[in-house]
Amino acid sequence: MKKYSVLVVGMGKRGMHHAAAFNANPKFQVTGICDIDAKRLADAAAKLGGPQTGGAAAALAKAVKPDVFCFCTLPNLRTPMIKAALGCGAKLIAFEKPVALTSAEALDMRDLIRKAGVKAVVSHQHRYGKHYQKVQEIVASGALGRVHTVYGTATGWMTHILSHLIDYSMWFNNYSPGTWAMAQAAGKFKLNDNHPSPDYLAGFVQFANGVRGIYECGAGAPDQPEVAKWWGKNRMGAQGTEGFAEVLTNGGWRAVTRSRGFESGEGAMNYDADMPPYIQEMADWLDDDQKVHPCNLDHALLGAEVMLALQRSAAEGGQIALPLTDGADEQALLKSNLTDKPVLVSCEQNRKEFGLT
Ligand SMILES: NC(=O)c1ccc[n+]([C@@H]2O[C@H](COP(=O)([O-])OP(=O)(O)OC[C@H]3O[C@@H](n4cnc5c(N)ncnc54)[C@H](O)[C@@H]3O)[C@@H](O)[C@H]2O)c1
Repeated sequence: MKKYSVLVVGMGKRGMHHAAAFNANPKFQVTGICDIDAKRLADAAAKLGGPQTGGAAAALAKAVKPDVFCFCTLPNLRTPMIKAALGCGAKLIAFEKPVALTSAEALDMRDLIRKAGVKAVVSHQHRYGKHYQKVQEIVASGALGRVHTVYGTATGWMTHILSHLIDYSMWFNNYSPGTWAMAQAAGKFKLNDNHPSPDYLAGFVQFANGVRGIYECGAGAPDQPEVAKWWGKNRMGAQGTEGFAEVLTNGGWRAVTRSRGFESGEGAMNYDADMPPYIQEMADWLDDDQKVHPCNLDHALLGAEVMLALQRSAAEGGQIALPLTDGADEQALLKSNLTDKPVLVSCEQNRKEFGLT
């Protein structure tokens, strides 16, 4: 059987998850790895069967000529990696959320990838969790009646988590595109983080099928006291005329519907369980153009545009029309337009996470 060769760039937490999961799948072999940290690179190479190594992604990619170019660098590093992937002739680019920190970069990346006709996927892999799948099944079954609202809330900050909240709630709504977004934001403490974010962002989205999206992220978002793990306090769901269904990242799922009554089940986000099917669906798409990966870039871009429109609205005020027609630097807009007033928190634990104690 032909194996697809893979280059993984960025051997931090997620790079190692990706590389290990590629090597564990008989359809893939990691043949190259890249990091600017030489010790991290050597340690990773020893664990991954001795692939070719290098500190410069574009040069290594040209030498390795991988079928799959995967990069798991921090959110500030995107376009140079897309260019390296396109420069080496890769068939599929796999990269980490969020798509980009600014709409200027997201739209440029989209245009580069579309022009090259290369497949691309973005790692919204929580969706493989059995509790996420259960909620999607209940929504798709029609048991909620007419779905009017989808939502996502997380105490974690925007650039880490909002992309997940939006992607899974848009999945529950069949990826109907946004037509406008409006938001407010507060607090500048996390603007200098390596996942730069306002401390709190809350907003509304109109989707093309009439469904309302409601999102909250960060210090002011409600606690989910039933979930102990702070990064697992994410709640995403859908409400309709006959009930609701929702998932908690580390707290299972629950639903109340007219036809089925109250239901609930377990589930907690688990990289070891979520990565294998995410990787397998890349092989399926490479083998067969019809088997488009559910985490494809077009889906991710619908969410990225919503996320960036919410930020632009928070910085500039008013509603932002979607799709975005022009690129902007939402990070710069937030930095210059947010006030210095400290964020107000929803629970005591958020005070610590947002530098208020
Ligand atoms: N999908 C998820 O569930 C999930 C979870 C955590 C993080 N993430 C995302 O994954 C991405 C990476 O996060 P992480 O926690 O693995 O970060 P990390 O800091 O652990 O790893 C990043 C690595 O990139 C390397 N790097 C930096 N510049 C480089 C360059 N020019 N060339 C090659 N390597 C370079 C760093 O040395 C580091 O080893 C982020 O976008 C983050 O938002 C996704």
